[in-house]
Order: sequence, then structure tokens, then C-alpha cells
Amino acid sequence: MIRFDAQENAFYLDNGRITYCFGVVKEGYLECRYFGRHIRRCQGSARPSYFDRGFCSNPDPQDKRFSLDTLPQEYPGMNQGDFRSPAYVIQTDDGRRVTRFLYQGYEIFQGKPPLPGLPATYVEHSQEAQTLVVHLADAHTRAQIHLYYTIFQDYDAICRHVEVVNDGSHPLWLERLMAMSMDLPRGTYDLLTLSGSHLMEKVVSRRPLTADTVVLDSCRGASSPQQTPCVILTDPQTNEHQGQVWGVNFVYSGDFQGVVQTSQYGDVRVQMGLNPLTFGWNLEPGQRFVSPECVLVYSSAGLNGMSHTFHRLYTQRLCRGPWRDRVRPILLNSWEAFTFSIDEGKCISLAKQAAELGMELFVLDDGWFKNRVDDRRALGDWVADPVKFPHGLGSLAQGVRDAGVDFGIWFEPEMVSYDSDLYRSHPDWVIRSPFYDPVLSRSQLVLDLSNPAVCDYLVQAVSAVLEETQASYVKWDMNRHITDLGSAWLSTGQQRELSHRYMLGLYQVLDQLNQRFPQVLFEGCSSGGGRFDAGMLHYMPQTWASDNTDAVCRLQIQAGTSLLFPPVTMGCHVSAVPNHQTGRVTSLQTRFAAALGGNLGYEMDIRTLTPEEQEEVKGQIHTYKALRETVQHGTFYRLLDPQQHNDGGWNIVSQDGNTVVCCQYRILADPLRRTTVVHLQGLDPEATYRRQSDGVCFGGDELMYAGLSDQPVRQDFVHVLSVFEKVAE
Ligand code: GLA
Repeated sequence: MIRFDAQENAFYLDNGRITYCFGVVKEGYLECRYFGRHIRRCQGSARPSYFDRGFCSNPDPQDKRFSLDTLPQEYPGMNQGDFRSPAYVIQTDDGRRVTRFLYQGYEIFQGKPPLPGLPATYVEHSQEAQTLVVHLADAHTRAQIHLYYTIFQDYDAICRHVEVVNDGSHPLWLERLMAMSMDLPRGTYDLLTLSGSHLMEKVVSRRPLTADTVVLDSCRGASSPQQTPCVILTDPQTNEHQGQVWGVNFVYSGDFQGVVQTSQYGDVRVQMGLNPLTFGWNLEPGQRFVSPECVLVYSSAGLNGMSHTFHRLYTQRLCRGPWRDRVRPILLNSWEAFTFSIDEGKCISLAKQAAELGMELFVLDDGWFKNRVDDRRALGDWVADPVKFPHGLGSLAQGVRDAGVDFGIWFEPEMVSYDSDLYRSHPDWVIRSPFYDPVLSRSQLVLDLSNPAVCDYLVQAVSAVLEETQASYVKWDMNRHITDLGSAWLSTGQQRELSHRYMLGLYQVLDQLNQRFPQVLFEGCSSGGGRFDAGMLHYMPQTWASDNTDAVCRLQIQAGTSLLFPPVTMGCHVSAVPNHQTGRVTSLQTRFAAALGGNLGYEMDIRTLTPEEQEEVKGQIHTYKALRETVQHGTFYRLLDPQQHNDGGWNIVSQDGNTVVCCQYRILADPLRRTTVVHLQGLDPEATYRRQSDGVCFGGDELMYAGLSDQPVRQDFVHVLSVFEKVAE
């Protein structure tokens, strides 16, 4: 899959469907040549013209046509005549930031090496992928940069990251380090990003690229609900089903920067890496720094095509552990029903009721630990409240299991309240400046995970509860962003390393817990989808998609999330009405229809349901169980975008191709009761599919090319769920 063509001085990464090509020019510089649909060779038919342009500096004085400012580059530096965004900036100990990293050589090997301490995609057999490492070196500092590229046989993705090694005798300071940089040729592109906020995560925003630099970033200590570490470029005519897409996603959960820079000559630089605003790293002689990785996906089959590659790669080769391939339990979560006023009696009666309705897991959310009567106290003290749980958590968990469902529990381990025993005994364990009172958010502070003692405490505190309860599920929350970046643990010279060291500490804690409790299903959360990113998926194969459980808003949030992450990674719950966040009243049916587009759960006091509603919920659970394998492990297609239309819709095709689940949503009633038709995707055009509800058979070709209509009624917030089974030949 990877070869070096000595005649062309070019590297080819090619799996028969995509080709990534770059060359070595002037014996030292890496020139981006092509990333797109598979081509046999890349000999320069589309090469831009170079001539002696004004203000262009020339590293080769004999060749005035050659300038780094116009060269499409793989990993551009600073201070060498390319005035666009640099991929790295390294300061030497004399305060200068001039380096000149030139190509030295390469290695190609089977498989993909793990990234020490970092989440990353992986292979199970070395034949699944090949890796290229390109070595660059700087003669003056004797530092090296190694550029890693992995291509997979079965996924149309290239993974990139970099390593910096200080082989010199003086310390270096890493000031900026992108995991990847790529220059796409001049053209007309649209840029898609996933922006948002708490309660409205992953809103798709699309705009044409004309000029200038667009910077996407987070300096919040989390990938954040405000931005997603991903850049998606498309042809202007690209839609869900056709057209070219280049998607770049960072496998990291902390501060990041994504750059999309249209140069003066119209080519487009795309970069993704650590946010230089909060990143800095001392590299002492002999030390090595490894960046997180970035996944680059190319699709010529529209946005769904790109999503399929991310979905398959992430569920099969980023998520890990026994839950990776299992169907996920239908759960009942205590939060929206009881918030902090939860106790043993309520838990047991909820668990009994949950079991009766067919649910499989009871999750005790916030409010269970000592003194946690509201959000102003007790975070950090992970021992059960003796008043609410007089018999302890072990006995509670057993009681829940005796009622017929598994037991799961909520933590927010990275945090501490001022009013907590943990803070009183370790005031130096929090992130803060010594000179100012720390800024609070939700009345809490963030623990300093750069300090190994803090990480050890977290592993021990969470483990003790998991051992006592034998819990099978953990919801891992993170409900504030980081301010006052300062650590009592790190030296003066290391303070700028805190943001990244925090992430390394967190990943290490999660890794240890994964290893100690392989049977526990971890679900990530950050006030909803505030840290719904590829980094977290390596340790927790699902994430609570949003604190906004309103069915209508959820359609949009889940559709945006699905650009990168499939239904099996999304926690989606039916909650009470009027909805806590919007006040909107939707039917139980509609709420279920929205939640069935992911991992189904309920988040309400189910004891207050009327007998009719109980029957309805039982029916929903029965339906979901029958569709679960398809919904959670099938191929997901977005059909109608609820952000742009009054309708939403998707279909999922089971792995064996025999079951198709399609859900169409109509948000507001149309007085004209016009029909909306969706064109199903991924069916066999030659096959026949029987609709379960009425036994009517349709050809796959008809469902895809003529489409499927809804049944407009005089009501807001309605849906049509259709399930088709392929008829045996
Ligand atoms: C966050 C989560 C909620 C809930 C609360 C508990 O907001 O997103 O689901 O767990 O914290 O405090």
C-alpha cells in the first residue's frame, strides 16, 4: 500500500480506493501532490505553474521559480519564506525561532505502532495497515521531526501524527505543533464545521471558502461543545450522497487548533493540532515528544461516504474492549427525574419498575455521595452518603440487580468542590494560579491531573466504588472548563505544559480503569456532548450526546454528531415533558422515535407513568430490542437534514443487509399535508423488501430511486418508523 517511487521522488499511499501522494523536491522539501480518489500515478498533470513572483523568497538562489511560499507542503515550518500558517514552531535556547528541517529518509513497515499514552486507531493484525515514517532533521539543533502516515487496507483513511526528538545538546521549546498539515490545490471548496454550545452541540455550519484564514479552536481544557476538532472540505455541489469530501478529525479531547487557510494564490492549507495558545513543551536533550493523531478521510460518495469511513474506523479500530462489538443496554438514568434527591428507596423502586418494562440497566446519576445535596459541594469525596444510602452502595447495587437490572453509577472524577474533604486535605491538588482566587464554574474546581498523586487517587477512588458495587457501567462526567492554568506540581518552566499534561494524566487514568475493569461499559459526558470526540471513544465507546433531551432538538444534534460518530456511540434518552430544556411537549412516541437513533435510555420517573404509558414504553423497548443489532451495528445514512428542513430522516442497513430501519420525522404540521419522500440508501436494488407493518413488498430499487413517502397528519412532531426485511430469493 505504501511505496517510494525513486524516479519521481514520490511517496504513494494507496489502498486501491484512495491515493495520497507527496514528493521530495530540491532534495529537502516535501511537496503535497494529491489526496483523493485512487489514481495509478501522479505525474504532475495538475501541477500549478511556478514563476518568479514578487515577495517570494528562494531557498535555491539558482531557481527563482521555487519558493516555499507557493509550494504545496506536507509539514511547513516558519521563518523560511513560507508566510502561511506553520505546522510547527520550535524555539531554541538562544530565544530564536529559526530552524530548517530538511528531508533525510524514510521507513515503511507493516501495521501501525501505538502512540504512547495517547488514544489512537490501531490494527489487530499487522496486515491491516502500513505505516510510513518520513525523517526530517535540522542540522543546527540536531533535532528531528518524524512524520507518521498510516494507510489501512479496509478504511479510506490516512492517520497522521508527528514526533519531535531532541538529539542535540541544548533544550528546545515546542511552541506550536500540528499533528498534520496539508495543502489542497486551488479550487472551489465549501468548509463544514461542527460548532455549538451546551444544549446545542454539533451544529453543522457550511460556507464557501473564498479567502483568509479560518481558525477553529478550543482553549477550554476539553474539545468542547463550542467547537469540534474537525475540518470538512467539500466540493460546492457535494451533498449527503455524492461529491468529494476531505474530512480531518483530531483524536484528542483537549485544547486544539484547526486552521483552514486560503492562500493568496487560492490553494488551501488545512492543519489540525495542539492549540498553541495553551500548549508549550520543553524538550530536553535526548527527549522525544509525540503529538496526538489526526484521521484524514477522503470520500467521493458525499458526506455519508465520509461518515461511513469514520463510523467503521472508529467503532472497529478506535473503540476497544469487550463492549466494542456488543449491543448496548437499554438504561434508566436517575438524573432528570430526581437530580440530587435520590436515595435507596427510590433507586430500588425505579429499578424494579425498569425491569418490569424490559430495561436492562439502572444508572445512579449525581447526588449519591456524602453531602451532595446540590451542585455546590462534595465533588471529590467518592463515598456513599450514609443518609441517602444507609446500607451502603454494595447492598444498593445488589438490590438493583435483585430487582432484575444491572447497576451503573455516575462520577465526575476530574473535579473537586471547595466544600469537600478532598479539597480540605489537598488544596494544592487543583489547577489554579497561586496569586489569585480561582475562578469557579458550577461551584467547582478542576483537579491537577498533571500530578501523578492526583491520578493515583482517582484510580483508587473510582476503583473502590466499582469493586464494592460490581457496577457494569460508569457515566464519566466533566462539567466545567479549565481556567487559571497553573499547577503546584509542575516546575516554573513546565507551566505551559499543563493543558497537555492534564490530558495525558486523564488518558492514563482511563487506561488503567479500562484495564482493571474490562467488563465495565464507560459512557463519556461533559454536560452532554461537551467532550464527544474521537479521543474519548478510545476509552469509552459511547457518549451522552447532549443534556438537551428535547426530541426536536435531538434530531439536529444527533444528525450533526453523526457526521463523525455513529448511533452506537450516542446516548439518547426519552425524558419527561414538558421538556426540561425547552418546555416543549412532544408525545412519548416522538420522544422514542428520536431516541431510537442511538443507544436508547429513559431519564424520567417511570413510576409515574399511567398504565397505558407503561404499555407503550414496554412496546418501545420490545421494538428497540428487535432493531437494536441493526441500529447499533448497521450502516447509517442521513437522508434528510432536520437543520435545514421541517423534516428529518435516516435509514440504517443491518450488517448482513437483511434488515432496513428507516425513520422519517415531520417537525411542524403542514396545513397542505404535502408528502415528503425520502430515498433510502444502501439497499440491494435487485432485492425485494417486505415492510413489517403491513407485509407489503417493495423492490430495493423502488425504495431507493422512487423513495418512500410519509403520511402527513394534522399534528406537530410526528414520525414514521418503517422496518423492512429482505425477502429470500
Ligand atoms: C451533567 C450531565 C447530566 C447529569 C448532571 C449531574 O450536566 O450532563 O446528565 O449527569 O451533570 O450533575
